[in-house]
Amino acid sequence: MSKSFYITSPIFYPNGNLHMGHAYTMTLCDILTRVHKLQNEDTYFLTGSDDNTGKILKIAEEKGESITEYLSSVKKGFEGLYSSLDINYDQFISTSDKDRHWPGAVALWNRLLSSGDIYKSKYEGLYCVGCEAFYTEKDSVDSKCPVHLTLLDKIEEENYFFKLSKYTEIIKQKISSDELLIVPNTRKNEILALLERGLEDVSFSRPIKNVPHGIPVPGDESQVIYVWCDALVNYISALGFGNDHDELFKKFWPASVHIVGKDIIRFHAAIWPAMLLSAGLTLPKSILVHGMITSGGHKMSKSLGNVIDPVELINSYGKDAVRYYIAREISPFEDGDLTMDRFKDSYNANLANGIGNLVSRIMKMSSDNLTSPVDIVEFEDMEEYFGFYERFEIDKAADYVWSKIGELDSYIQTNQPFKVVKTDKIAGEKMITELVTRLYSIAKMLSPILPETSAKIIELVKANKTPITPLFIRKD
Ligand code: MSP
Repeated sequence: MSKSFYITSPIFYPNGNLHMGHAYTMTLCDILTRVHKLQNEDTYFLTGSDDNTGKILKIAEEKGESITEYLSSVKKGFEGLYSSLDINYDQFISTSDKDRHWPGAVALWNRLLSSGDIYKSKYEGLYCVGCEAFYTEKDSVDSKCPVHLTLLDKIEEENYFFKLSKYTEIIKQKISSDELLIVPNTRKNEILALLERGLEDVSFSRPIKNVPHGIPVPGDESQVIYVWCDALVNYISALGFGNDHDELFKKFWPASVHIVGKDIIRFHAAIWPAMLLSAGLTLPKSILVHGMITSGGHKMSKSLGNVIDPVELINSYGKDAVRYYIAREISPFEDGDLTMDRFKDSYNANLANGIGNLVSRIMKMSSDNLTSPVDIVEFEDMEEYFGFYERFEIDKAADYVWSKIGELDSYIQTNQPFKVVKTDKIAGEKMITELVTRLYSIAKMLSPILPETSAKIIELVKANKTPITPLFIRKD
């Protein structure tokens, strides 16, 4: 049986259109999935939407739509972006899905209850509807939300709580031993420092009036399950946990990797593992925590006028150009910057002049001089290349491919096969054959990052043809 690889993206709030940050996370997931497919693994890529929030209700009401109508139109937008970026996921789970998701959330709640980890208590806090989050006095500014600058609601209510504090030590041990691997190391240390300070129990439910479309707490219809035992559970409910058909769960759990942004690390590296431990389930193997995309060094925002819409970028430059930038120009371990100028420069240098130009040159020599397509022997040993992905060094993997592209450019410059073939046909043809073979291997390596371009190159090699138009047209 082949090795299995289960990867998850966060499930996004269906608050509106997806932005560059979402496109970024999804592209990373898609690249990693393709890499593991290329290694003949049995892959499963899960994504979805986080529907059970007060904000969704508010937006739907403002639009005069039912929640179902509203959600279905937003999700069409999600799908549109994913298909325009060639993102191939295996399942889209919605937390509003009563058949697929709810039984899993309820089953998990019941497990935590049987472990004696859920109890009822009074909850007091300052709540921001915009953030869907509670703030302490310390974090708020004059009782206002630090993000939205609106007055926070003082909330006092009876809630169910989860005994998160009980799991501090064991999670610390699992993370420091890398049994639960947190990548990069800086984020691992950050979460260990948080665990060192100790975890407090977390509120686990809300009164049903706040989120009437949420999942009712088993045995108490006055409360709905709060985000932790709802949204996080998607990673197993989608696989059938809590359902009659749980074949996917048996096959793919534990997850190979959860991909998350640095803003949601605490949920994934502390609360989620504690819930799994309480339920007697295996922990995910790793969590990749990526940084934030900024533009010109600032968070993208309408007021700064620096928002870059992924759809516009795709329309002007093509999907592979966007995937290229995400893969190579941003380290998955740090914040990364994206401006239209940087995008264009990098496109011209590495796609138009880089791979695009190389393909035209090699295929011109080949179609002019070789009478039939080159017989491709299986591509080079890819161990070094896959090694980068094993360590989640996606940008370094891309650098590696571009170093191979550079080698072929130098080879042409040094050996000048287009001249040699005129004086020594056999030697010239041998050089061109070598170039085409190496180009084919580059195309294979490119397939997770630039799937469309990779397929085009392979087609040209197999047909021994020059591209009619350059693969990437230079932009001025
Ligand atoms: N619904 C929660 C996640 C629950 S997962 C069980 C949520 N949703 S979200 O719609 O706000 O999307 C969050 C994801 O998008 C996070 O991983 C976050 O880091 C990522 N990004 C949001 N803005 C981003 C950037 N500017 N850059 C990169 N990623 C960004 O949180």
